[in-house]
This record gives sequence, structure tokens and C-alpha cells, in this order.
Amino acid sequence: MISYDRETGVFHLENGLISLVLCVREDEAGQKELLLPYMGAPLSDPASCLYLAKTHGGASFDTDRQARPYACPTEGRGDSRPPLLCAVDGQGQGCTELYFKDCAIVAGKPPLPGLPASYVEKDSEAETLLITLGDEQTGLRAEVRLTIFAGRPIIAESIRYRNEGGEPLTLTNAGSACVTLPGRYDMIHLHGAWAKERSVERISPAALTRGISSVRGASGHEHNPFAVLAAPDATEFSGECVGAALVYSGNFAIQADENAYGTTRLTLGLNPRGFAWRLLPGEDFQAPEALFAWSKEGLNGMSQAFHSLMRQRVCRGHWRDRARPILINNWEATYFGFDHEKIMTIARAAANAGIELFVLDDGWFGKRNNDDCSLGDWVVNKEKLPKGLDGLAREINALGMKFGLWFEPEMVSPDSDLYRAHPDWCLHAGSRRRTTARQQLILDMGRRDVQDYVIGAVSTVLRSAPIEYVKWDMNRNFLEAGSEALSDGRQGETAHRYMLGLYRVLEEITGAFPQVLFESCSGGGGRFDAGMLSYMPQTWTSDDTDAVARLSIQYGTSLCYPTSAMGAHVSAVPNHQVGRVTGMRMRGDVALAGNFGYELDLSAQTPEDMEEIRRQVAMVKALRETTQRGTFTRLLSPFEGNVTAWQFSDEKRVILCAYRVLNMPNAAPLRVRLHNVPQGTYRASDGSLITGNDLMAAGVPLQFGWQDFSSIVMVFEKTA
Ligand code: DGJ
Repeated sequence: MISYDRETGVFHLENGLISLVLCVREDEAGQKELLLPYMGAPLSDPASCLYLAKTHGGASFDTDRQARPYACPTEGRGDSRPPLLCAVDGQGQGCTELYFKDCAIVAGKPPLPGLPASYVEKDSEAETLLITLGDEQTGLRAEVRLTIFAGRPIIAESIRYRNEGGEPLTLTNAGSACVTLPGRYDMIHLHGAWAKERSVERISPAALTRGISSVRGASGHEHNPFAVLAAPDATEFSGECVGAALVYSGNFAIQADENAYGTTRLTLGLNPRGFAWRLLPGEDFQAPEALFAWSKEGLNGMSQAFHSLMRQRVCRGHWRDRARPILINNWEATYFGFDHEKIMTIARAAANAGIELFVLDDGWFGKRNNDDCSLGDWVVNKEKLPKGLDGLAREINALGMKFGLWFEPEMVSPDSDLYRAHPDWCLHAGSRRRTTARQQLILDMGRRDVQDYVIGAVSTVLRSAPIEYVKWDMNRNFLEAGSEALSDGRQGETAHRYMLGLYRVLEEITGAFPQVLFESCSGGGGRFDAGMLSYMPQTWTSDDTDAVARLSIQYGTSLCYPTSAMGAHVSAVPNHQVGRVTGMRMRGDVALAGNFGYELDLSAQTPEDMEEIRRQVAMVKALRETTQRGTFTRLLSPFEGNVTAWQFSDEKRVILCAYRVLNMPNAAPLRVRLHNVPQGTYRASDGSLITGNDLMAAGVPLQFGWQDFSSIVMVFEKTA
């Protein structure tokens, strides 16, 4: 999969689905630069693309440099496009020149120490190219690591920086990956805010730098660490797309820079804003991993490549390939106002409907009856739960359901025993005011003592009762992000040290409780990224549970992330976030396209709704193998019209889900054509037979009910 021609200095990573070409070229001073002229469709001969490494446009030195496709562009050496690296020396000089030193090709994919990353189970699944670049003056080394996976149109890239000089350096930019594409591209990204995460935005080619980022200490609600460069004519089903996702959950930046010579440079990595990392002689700094997916079959092709990689080689552990349990969560049913009996009343109704897991949300610990106290005091509130968690969990187990629990371990309330004992443990900037949000402060996860406290506190609770699921929440973002544990001059390390500390905590806890199903959450979907998925195979998609709003949120999320990663619950009406009243059927049909659950008072439903809930639970059990692990294809976008449709397919069946928001008088008949249907004959629910070919060629009519908020789920079971 990886070849290197020493004579020409050309590296070719190829697997029949994607090619990436690098070349070592002498620059004007006779130094060996590393260029990355090509990533895209598989090439038979890498020499065919080498013209892309040469001068573009004008002949002057400056012009040439501006358009060169550097693999690891650095600050201050004639290329004014966004760089990956800035290493400042003791004189404050940040100009670095990286030249080729050596290379190696290894089987498989080495892990990234301390950071989440994609992985292989056998060395035959991938090959990795390691290229070392070096700056002679400072002694800085950059080891560029590129992995190509067999059978996937995916490349993983990361960079490890090492100070082999004699003087300390300060990294003010330590990026992960850079590719340059010849041409002008639309940039597609996912943006939003609390309760409206991951709207799809498509920006036309622009001769400027288009960028998304976070300084929130989490990947954030606002932008997701994922972007696409799409050919302007690319659609869901055709055209060239390069997707890029960062395996990281904290401050990040992704930039697409288009220059006057018609090339687009994409850079990904930690956000340089607020970042400054002291790198002493002999020390390493590992930048997070970036994943690239290439498709010539439009956005669906790119998404499907990401879905299968995320599901199979980013997510890990016991639950990775297992059917996810149908859950009932009490948050929207009770908020903080519950006691043992109320929980048991909901649990009995849930068990009766066939639900498999009860999740007790916020409010079970300390003296927490609202959100102004007790975070950090992870001790059960015996006034609400006199039988303790153990007593409650065992009664729920006796109903035939598993028991799960909410935590927000990275936080501390000013009104808590933890804060009173350790006021220095939260992030803060010296003696400045400590700004609260949702009346809470953030623990300084970069500190070893804080990490050990969190590991101990969560583990003690998990050992105290039969807890088989954890919802790991994080409800506010960084302000005054300083650390009392870092000596002067190192405050710019706080945000990344927080993430390294959090990842250590997650590795320890998920490793110590391998059978527990972990779901991450951050005020809904404020930390929905590949980094968290590496520890927790599912994420609460959004605090907006309205079925109509969820169409856009789930559609946007699916650009990068698989449905097996998306928590999706049926909630009460009028909906608590938007007041909309949709039917139980539509709410269930939307939640079906994720990790299905309920978030309402099941003991207060009408008999008709309970009957529908029982039907839904049975349907999800019958179909979840396909909805959680089949191929997901977007058909009609909620961002473009009144009807949304998507489809799941595997060797057993095809499931078509369609949703119409508003009814229309005298509307034209609607049909939708399916995609990716394996060949064969299928039986529809009315018993009729249809071939896979005809489902794609003729399509099927969509006969919605005579009302607003109508949905259809059609299942085609394969007969032969
Ligand atoms: C935010 C989450 O997204 C909600 O689902 C819920 O768990 C609350 N936090 C609890 O405080």
C-alpha cells in the first residue's frame, strides 16, 4: 500500500480507493522540502501528479512559494498561507524551516500516546509512513505520520514534534495535518448552538481563508471539528469530496485557504489561539490525529467511509459491535423533582413496554434539587433515594431492566464540599473573578490530583451498585482558563493539558469498567467528536428532542458520524424546547434513526400512546441491527425542503424512513428512489415483492397521512 522511490523521492500511499502522494524536492537553496501534491482518486502512477508540486502561475520565487503544497508548512519562511507550525526560540524568533531527514514504512498503525486515535486490530489492516523533518537551527523535529487503511478511502495523519536542540522552544502552533488541493472547492461544515447543533452550511469557493474553530475547551456546539472540501457540483450522490475530521474534543481550528493561483489548502489541528506549549530539550509533543475521507460519489460516499471507520476503528470496547439497549431517561420526565417511588413508577411502565435500560439523570447526589449546588459531591442523596443507588438499581434489575446513571465529573459547584476543600482545583486566572455558568466552575483536569479524585469518585459510585450505563455530561465551557498548577509561562498549556488529563481519566475509567456502556454528552451535542467516540461509543445528540428539529440535527450529524453514535429519544409534547406537538408515531420514527430511547413520564401516557410505544419498542428490537450497523444513506435533506428521507441497508433488509413536516393542499405525488440496495428480491410489509434494482430505478411512492408532522417507515426484507 505504501511505496517509496528513493531516486525520485516520491512516496505513494494507495489502496485502489484513494491515493496520496508526497515528494521530496530540492528548494532554491538546495534543501530538501517535503511536498504533498496529491490526495484523491487512486493513481496508477504517482509520477502523473508531480506537476502539481511545481510552480503555479508566475515565475518569481515568492509566487512559487505561495502556491507550493507543503506537507508541514511553517511560520515565517515566505509562505504566508496558514501554517501548521510555529516554534518560538529564546529570542522570540518563530521562523522554522523543516527539511527532510529520513523515513520509515511500518506495518499497521502505532498508537498515539495519551491521545485517542483510529486503530487497527491486525497489522495487515494498514500501513504507516513515518517521515522525519528537521530544523537545523533549533533542533526541532517533526515526525509526520500517515496511515493508509486497506479497503477504506481513508488516510490518518498526525505529527509528533520533538525538541532535539539545546534550548527550550515554545510551540504557539502545533498543527496536525495539511493537504493542498488543486482547484476551488465549496467548504461544508456543521455549525450551531445549544439545542440546534450541526446545521449544514455550504460556502462557495472564496479567495480567502474560511475557518471554523473552538476556544471553549470542548469541541463545542458552535462548530464541529469536521469539514468537507466539495467540488462545487458535488451532491449527496455524485462529485468529489474530501472530508476531514479531527480526533480531538477540545480547542481546535480548521482552515480552508484559497489563494490567487487556484489551490486550496486545508489545515487542521489544535487552535493556536491561547495556545503556547513549552518544549524543553528532549521533550515530545504529540498533535492530535486528523482523518481524511475521499469520495467521488458525493457526500454520502464520504459519510459512509467515515461511518464505518468511526464505528469499527475509532469506537472501542465491549459495546462497539453490540446492539445498543433501548433506554428510558427520567430527565424531561422529572428534572430534579423525583424520589425512589417516582422513579420506580416510570421504571415499571418502561419494563412493561419492553424497554431495556433505565437511566437516572441529574439530581441523585449531594443536596442537588436544582442546578446551583453539589457538583463534585458524588454521594447519593438519601432523602430522595433512601434505599441508595444499590437499592434502586436492584429493584430496577428485578423488573428485567439494566440501570444507568448520569455524572458530570469535570465540574464543581461553588456550593459543594469539594470546592470548599479544594478551591484551587478549578480552572481560574490568578485572582480574577471566577465566572460561573450554570452556576458551576470547571475542574482543572490537567492536574494529576484532580484526575485521581475524579477517577476515584466515579469508580466508587460505579462499584457501589449494579450500574451498567453512564451518561458523562459536561455543561459549560471555558472562561478564565488558567491553572494554578502550572508555573509561570505555561498558562498557554492549560486547555490542552485539560484534554490530556480528561483522556487519561476516560481511559482509566472505561478500562476499569469495560462492560459499562458510556454515553458522552455536553449540554446535548456540545462535544460530539471522534475523540469522545474513542472512549464512549455513543453521544447525546442534542438537548432539542423535538422530532422536527431532530431531522436537521441528525441529518447534519450524519455527515461525519454514524447513527450508532447518536442518542435519539422520544419526548413529551408539547415539546419542552419548542412547544411543538407532533404525534407519537413521528417522534418514534425520527428516534428510530439513532440509539433509540424515551425521555418522558411513561406512567402518564394515554393507553393509545402506550400501545404505540410497545409497537415502537418491538420494531426497534427487530430493526436495530440494520439501523445501528447497516449502511446509512441520506436521500432528501431537511435543509432543502419539507420532506426528509434517509435509508438503512444491509444484507438482510432495506429500511426507508421519510418525514413530511407540513401537509400541503393538492400536492404533487411524491416518490423517492433508494440507493445502495444490494441485488436481490425484497418483500415489502404488504407481502408484495420488488427487486433491489427496481427500488433504486423506479423508487417508491411516499403516501403521507393527512396531517402535519407525518412519517413513513417502510421495511423491505430480502427474500433471496
Ligand atoms: C444536559 C444534558 O444534555 C441533559 O440531557 C441533562 O442530562 C442535563 N444536562 C442535566 O443537568
